[in-house]
Parts: sequence; structure tokens; C-alpha cells
Amino acid sequence: MTERRTWLLTTPIYYVNDVPHVGHAYTTIAADTLTRARRLQGKDAFLLTGTDEHGQNIERIAREKGVPTQQYCDQIAAVFRQLWDRLDIRYDRFIRTTEDVHVRGVLKLWGGLIEAKCPDGRDAIYKGTYAGWYCPRCEAFKDEEELKQPGNLCSIHERPCEWTEEENFFFRLSAYEGWLREAIGKGSGPGGLRIDPAARRNEVLGIIDQGLKDFSVSRARVKWGIPVPQRPDHVLYVWFDALSNYITALGYADDGAQYEKYWASDGAERFHLIGKDILRFHCLYWPALLQAAGVPPPNREFVQGWITREGRKLSKTTGNVIDPQALVDRYGPDPVRYFLLREGTYGQDWDFTDQAFVGRYNSDLANDLGNLVSRALTMVQRYRDGKVPPRGARFDVVEPANVLASYEALDFAGALSQVWAAVTKLNQRIVTHAPWEMAKDPHQSARLDALLYDLLEGVRLISILVQPVMPRAAGRIARMLGLPERDPGPGDLEWGRLEPGSPLAAIEPLFPRIEKAANAAAKEKTVPDSSTPPPPATEAASPPMPDRIDIADFAKIELRAAIVTAAEKVEGSKKLVKLQVDLGTEKRQVVAGIAESYAPETLVGKKVVIVANLKPAKLMGVESNGMVLAASVDGKAVLCTFDADVPPGARVK
Ligand code: MSP
Repeated sequence: MTERRTWLLTTPIYYVNDVPHVGHAYTTIAADTLTRARRLQGKDAFLLTGTDEHGQNIERIAREKGVPTQQYCDQIAAVFRQLWDRLDIRYDRFIRTTEDVHVRGVLKLWGGLIEAKCPDGRDAIYKGTYAGWYCPRCEAFKDEEELKQPGNLCSIHERPCEWTEEENFFFRLSAYEGWLREAIGKGSGPGGLRIDPAARRNEVLGIIDQGLKDFSVSRARVKWGIPVPQRPDHVLYVWFDALSNYITALGYADDGAQYEKYWASDGAERFHLIGKDILRFHCLYWPALLQAAGVPPPNREFVQGWITREGRKLSKTTGNVIDPQALVDRYGPDPVRYFLLREGTYGQDWDFTDQAFVGRYNSDLANDLGNLVSRALTMVQRYRDGKVPPRGARFDVVEPANVLASYEALDFAGALSQVWAAVTKLNQRIVTHAPWEMAKDPHQSARLDALLYDLLEGVRLISILVQPVMPRAAGRIARMLGLPERDPGPGDLEWGRLEPGSPLAAIEPLFPRIEKAANAAAKEKTVPDSSTPPPPATEAASPPMPDRIDIADFAKIELRAAIVTAAEKVEGSKKLVKLQVDLGTEKRQVVAGIAESYAPETLVGKKVVIVANLKPAKLMGVESNGMVLAASVDGKAVLCTFDADVPPGARVK
């Protein structure tokens, strides 16, 4: 395997025929995340994106809107850039195919091709006549059998294709079958082209096995494009124009320094992220064109999956599009980035649902991560005066190298699930070690220091590892930890970077729960319901209150089976009944509010469930040592019992 020293990653350049949709955001967020993960490791990474602005389709849309074509392109390109800004996409270069440096680069590549010879010695470019069905939206010719009948419709756009006959320049793709097969077969080896996932690689090899057809690289009837110098009444095929962006953006026209560094050099990874719709162009046409022109071809491509809704393709006609701007308006950039990368497996199709979005937001972000951060920091504020405590022994919750390896493999869901396993472990540690109990005992002070330091370091490491996906949240956690907000680097991945004694900053809520915000107005007017968590307690020894409990929280409640041995009404009360219960190892008196539903004598012999570790209390002056579980149905108590025999004292969990 060739050692890589520079890391170029590209997104497809998006058509400006419409404003960006969630599929565009998906690819761009994935690319930004991988690039950030690489920068985090100190790698020389470069992210390239942009807009594809030529072609018949765009020319037509601008005409329909009554706007000059260039002006129309300017408007839509600006919307793409603005969305990327809103989504915190940190690209190094935004290329537009109407830029002069692009046009010059395309013409330079064309100049090389027109002179080029194929492996079999024939000219790589030749003149021929093309007759076939053309879909102006795909900007591609279609085979007769691909069309939907009646009406010769494009199977993707469901619009009529046009019968087109013209004299074109052709590229002799057929002469590159052997070379392509070999390069793809070599994968990540020298001179190879690695295509992932494997199913897509096999798909490309399958296409080659069926035989590759030469394709035309000029168009007679299109005006909005780059004229062919040898035939100024033709423009270069929009896909030839568009694919060239990957090198023109780097300064190929002038042999620029970035082109040398990120594309031409031996140690350059030239990596394209693409959708499955554009596989043929990127995995066959583009490598072969470059090989013919004597320019290094890409060496890595990853084909992402499709976002669907109710299993259907997103389309304006169906009305099921997902507007990325609206998502950012509502939730902010981090949750959108997180959800898109966490919910599906990158490389496979997956279905977007609003419920899943809200569910993940509330459980993963508001509850798991948000609570961990606020609990850890609150405890340091309360028990250590807001200063980082002394370091203790290290408790490993996550292996940064494994998370980074998952990012590098485009396994975003895998990277995030490793980080969330760490979040869960730390939340569990808080429950099992009960720092609020330790805080009451001066002898436990050193243990509490160690635990709190480790929690803070855990939070810090988690924020660094999640930074490629949620750069804003990572910055806010850094700020709360009293650290400068800057781009993290390799040194930040080491445990123990927090300086004991340094002050934390104010705690800010990270991810407020969604339904609370939505219901806030309504709730203000109603009485607080029991599902609303109480406000944080102020006394020193109480734990910060999470919205949901961990299994370890639940385990603190000791539920046991018990047999009622005697029962009588509590005098002066309509509701209360005094029970004597047998817990196997001990007998107890428990008072229960079930007298209106059960006559005392019917209770004797019943097997019930008792909360055995409840602090004793007096009800109407009668001592109660535990609590009986019952449901309340229309104000009537229904006792919780067993559907098979269990010995008294059996633990219920
Ligand atoms: N302009 C060409 C690409 C030229 S690259 C040299 C183009 N543009 S596009 O605007 O149609 O964007 C296509 C890309 O957007 C897909 O390859 C894919 O990355 C992304 N997606 C568009 N819709 C998508 C989904 N519904 N789901 C996931 N990604 C999708 O083709």
C-alpha cells in the first residue's frame, strides 16, 4: 500500500437546477466529518465541494424563470454556500464550473485527450455519429431498454427522453476495460482504485464484464457550456466538464501548488464520495479519461446509500422532500449532522422519519450526552467549587484510535455508537458510585476527586471524538470545561489534559428536549405533571436529576415478593389498610391506600410486590415499612401480583 501524505476528499458538485435537498446535505456532512476526523489526527486534509452549472437543463430552468443563466447560477450557488455555512461545513475550496480557472482547466485536459493514444495505439478521441435517446435532466443518453413505456420516459426522472442524432466527439472507453478491471482489482494497492462498499465494487466490475461502450464527449445542441475548440458549435459534454472540477479546482490549469500536492503527488489520496446514481461516471468514465490524458486517476471512491421516505425516493413530484434548511432552523446544525450520520449505515439506503429524528435527539443527545455533561459539571461545581480536582487513576471508557478508524472507514454510525457506549458507561459510573453520597463523607474525599476528574476527562475525550460530527457541541463543552475553543489536534486525544485546579465555566444546556420546547406554552398553563422532572435540587448532597434513569438507577429499588398474613383498616381513614407481610426472611408492617378497592379479609394470602428498601414512614400515625405496588384504574387500586407461584422474598427486577 502506498503511504499517503495528503488527503483530498471531494463531494459531487451539485446541480444548480434547484436549491439543495437533504441528499446533498448528507454527502457534504459525511465529507466534512471525515475531513474533520483527519484534521483531528493532524493529517493534511483538503475538502472540495462546489456546483455543477452547465448544461441544457440549467439553461432551460433559467429561461423558464426569466433570469439570465449566469445570474440564476449565481443565486443558487449562493444558496448552497449559505447552507454549508449553516451546517458548519468547513470546505477548503468551493468550485463553480462557470469559473474561468475551471474552464481553462477543462480545455487543458481536453487538449491532452485529443492528442492521446489508447493502450491499443488508436486515438482516444474520435469523431462519430450518435443517435439515441437523451434525457436532458440526467444529461445522458439512455439505452432503449432503460426507457419506461409508453412515452420513452427516463426511468429516473419519468420525463420523456429526446431522440437525438448528431455528429460528436467520442471517447474510446472500450479500450480501457482491461485497465479499469485491473485498477479496481488492485484496490488500495499501488496503481489501484479502491471502491467501497464491496457490493458497489462488484457492481462496477459487473458493468465492465458486460462490455463498455464508447461515449460521446461533445454536444451539438447545447449552448450553455464550454465550446469545443475544434468545433465551436459544440460544447463539451457536461459530465466531462463536471468531472474535471476535481482537478481544475486545485489549479490544474496552471499546474498550481495545490494540484501538485493534493492530486498529482505520489502520496496523495484522491478520494471521491458519490451517490449510487453517479457511479458509472465516477468509477468508469473519469478514471479512464484521466488515464488516457496521463493524469493520475482517483485512488478511492465510496458510494453512499440513498435516503428515502417511507421507502420511496425523495422527489418534488411525490411531495416527500426533506428541506435541510428547515431542519437546521428547527434543531440547529449539530442534531441534523448527528442524525443523518447515526441513523443509517453509510453506504446503504435508509428511511428518514421525523419520529426517529426526535427519538434520537431526545434519547442520544438530550438524555445521554446532555445529562452526562450537566451532571459531571454540576457535581464539580457543587463538591469542588467549580475547579478541576486532582488526577486519580485512569478509567478507560473509549479507545480513540478505534473511533477514528471507524470514521476513516466511513462507518459513522459505528464511530458514534462507540462514543455513546462511553457516554453510557460514564452515566452508569455516576449512578453506581453515587458521588453525592461520597460528598457527605470526608474520608472519601480522594476517591471523589479521582472519580470527578475521570468524569471530566471522559466528557472532554467524548467531546473531542464527537467533534467531527458535532463541532458546535464540542466547542461548547470545551468552553464549559474552561478550555479555549479551538480546533482539536492529536494531543487532545490523550487522557489527562485537564489541569487540576483550573476553573470550569458556567454550565449551558446542550440539547434541550424537543417536546418540552414544543409544549412549553401549553405546560405553563397546566399543573405540573408527574412526568416533568423536578427542578434541580439545591441542597449540597442531592444528585443532579436526569430525565430518564439508567438500569443502574432502577437497580437501586429493591422490589420483593411478599405474602399478606393479616390485614385491617386504619382507623379514621377511608383509604388506608394496615398489612402484615411475610418477606421470607422477615415480617413487616406496610400501610397501603387500597381499602376502597379491597376488603381487608380478601387480602390475606395474596402475594404482592413490595418496595422493600423504602425509608419507614408514618401514615395517619401508623408505621409503614415498605410500599405495596398497585396500578390505579379510574381511581381504583389494582394490586400487582404474580402469574405463577414465587417464594416470599423473591427479588423482582
Ligand atoms: N452534478 C452531478 C454530479 C457531478 S460530480 C462531478 C449531480 N448532481 S446532483 O445535484 O444531482 O447531486 C447528486 C448527489 O447528491 C448524489 O450523488 C448523492 O451524493 C446526493 N444525493 C442526492 N439525492 C440523494 C438522496 N436522496 N439520498 C442520498 N444522497 C443523495 O449528480
